[in-house]
Amino acid sequence: MEILLKGLLRLEYRGYDSAGELIEAACQQDMDMDVEFDVHLGIAHTRWATHGAPSPVNSHPQRSDKSNEFIVIHNGIITNYKDLRKFLESKGYEFESETDTETIAKLVKYMYDNRESEDLSFATLVERVTQQLEGAFVLVFKSVHYPGEAVGTRRGGPLLIGVKSDHKLSTDHIPILYRSSGKDKKGCPTLPRMEQDTCHTLFAEDKKSVEYYFASDASAVIEHTNRVIFLEDDDVAAVTNGRLTIHRIKRTAGDHPARAIQTLQMELQQIMKGNYSSFMQKEIFEQPESVVNTMRGRVNFDDNTVILGGLKDHIKEIQRCRRLILIACGTSYHAGVATRQVLEELTELPVMVELASDFLDRNTPVFRDDVCFFISQSGETADSLMALHYCKERGALTVGVTNTVGSSISRETDCGVHINAGPEIGVASTKAYTSQFVALIMFALLMCDDRISMQPRRREIIQGLRVLPDLIKEVLSLDDEIQRLAAELYQQKSVLIMGRGYHYATCLEGALKIKEITYMHSEGILAGELKHGPLALVDKLMPVIMIIMRDHTYTKCQNALQQVVARSGRPIVICDKDDYETAKSSSRTIKVPHCVDCLQGVLSVIPLQLLSFHLAVLRGFDVDFPRNLAKSVTVE
Ligand code: G6P
Repeated sequence: MEILLKGLLRLEYRGYDSAGELIEAACQQDMDMDVEFDVHLGIAHTRWATHGAPSPVNSHPQRSDKSNEFIVIHNGIITNYKDLRKFLESKGYEFESETDTETIAKLVKYMYDNRESEDLSFATLVERVTQQLEGAFVLVFKSVHYPGEAVGTRRGGPLLIGVKSDHKLSTDHIPILYRSSGKDKKGCPTLPRMEQDTCHTLFAEDKKSVEYYFASDASAVIEHTNRVIFLEDDDVAAVTNGRLTIHRIKRTAGDHPARAIQTLQMELQQIMKGNYSSFMQKEIFEQPESVVNTMRGRVNFDDNTVILGGLKDHIKEIQRCRRLILIACGTSYHAGVATRQVLEELTELPVMVELASDFLDRNTPVFRDDVCFFISQSGETADSLMALHYCKERGALTVGVTNTVGSSISRETDCGVHINAGPEIGVASTKAYTSQFVALIMFALLMCDDRISMQPRRREIIQGLRVLPDLIKEVLSLDDEIQRLAAELYQQKSVLIMGRGYHYATCLEGALKIKEITYMHSEGILAGELKHGPLALVDKLMPVIMIIMRDHTYTKCQNALQQVVARSGRPIVICDKDDYETAKSSSRTIKVPHCVDCLQGVLSVIPLQLLSFHLAVLRGFDVDFPRNLAKSVTVE
């Protein structure tokens, strides 16, 4: 129970509203009649409600019946659950919860009770159940009919298996067992019994001493082991008595016929708060290092070259493409908005930046000669993943920009870049944003490395990257000043954030941070649009933050500033540290160091990250657990 609870705590950051757990206990009595529990299997779950409010009866595991014959935990949404429920009710099943998950628990019992053959394996049973399910799911099952055994499967969501053993393992990759390999008495395809099939089974020398941890996220298992197996969609993994087998119905083109045991670089201390009051604060202050980690081994500041190993086989093809489409959600989308201009400049290609959900809603035309980027911290966001499938179906080349090794997006894209920012636990994304930003700039630099006319600009940007970590440190030293500003603003209802050009993304991202964790209303406004509506919101009481940097939009930003001041607005301006002109018209300035224009957005966002953090603390909210939000949104 302790292991499970700890695991749930480690997953808490993903966002949840209820939790449940169930363990299998085999009772042993020794000579003194002391009761000892020999427990070796349990499952636990944190739930982020989709169907049915958070409540004990809706929390997982869900069960087939009052005697818990089958129990299941589930992430995702079963879209055909109403039909399944109707069918099961017609067979006499009585439902106790409002969840879509309960239909799975009941369906597995129904299929078990109506099995054709006595020696139906748990894995085969689960596979039959999943064939009836539509939607997205990650499932782990347990049953009294299969004591000591657990079966996990996924479609459209993450599931990994941590493998812990001090003994030598039978293999470093498990060959997939295809179900077509066996038939039962009635001729139905089935699985050979696990014990009989050693070549497809993972076990240790002594056949017992492996512990397996099914989890949706590596942070839940990292304190036990850094060796993990990432499952693919429709893999069915069964564990019993220290042995693991993974099977699929049949082999399809492009399937890899084995799953490797990978070693993660993640360390426990990376997912601990250390001396900080929250993960978000820790991650904001980690940015001088996290951007270095994004560039490490990739940018050579002496000869101004960039190497991205994950793209090298595809870069020629990308250079020949018709357009770049950047697709993402939330903060990751803002990283696309932030770098669009420099991508257009350095690649001379049309660049579209799309919110994944809207991109899909529009059935956006995508062609074989498009290159589609999927930017995602978690690599698991359902909307982005759906958009990835959509683009793959249309033959586009797909590129992942993720922070999570082994995530669905990093595995399903043709090529990609890991941003290497280290695990991000705070729900409000901070260091992932600045690392995505830097990663996309590195890509832009790579795209034009053989263009002679671009070399001066490339050098300027690469030298900007060199000093960026120190400049971030300088911005972070404004923390006390920003805390004082927060003390003046925290009782306000609303904050407007205005800017244009390279800093429009900063406005959107700053406003999102404030909404997410302070629950204040906040809007990022393109300064060019001010006169077309938002100016009506400005008066002497409305808090307005403006971003005005010395770049090609400087004069236009000055106009916006004057428009605000003329309506008695009292703008707080984030500006270059020696910009005395702007300071004259501002009620207050936050002075940040100057950097090459296209990287300045990395610096201008940090005061807003800090501001949102201090506002939330002053308003009495837990910044790492904002209400209603999840870190990794694996439902559409
Ligand atoms: C959720 C998180 C946001 C995040 C967005 C996209 O909404 O709360 O912080 O920006 O998902 O997540 P991704 O993992 O795809 O970057």
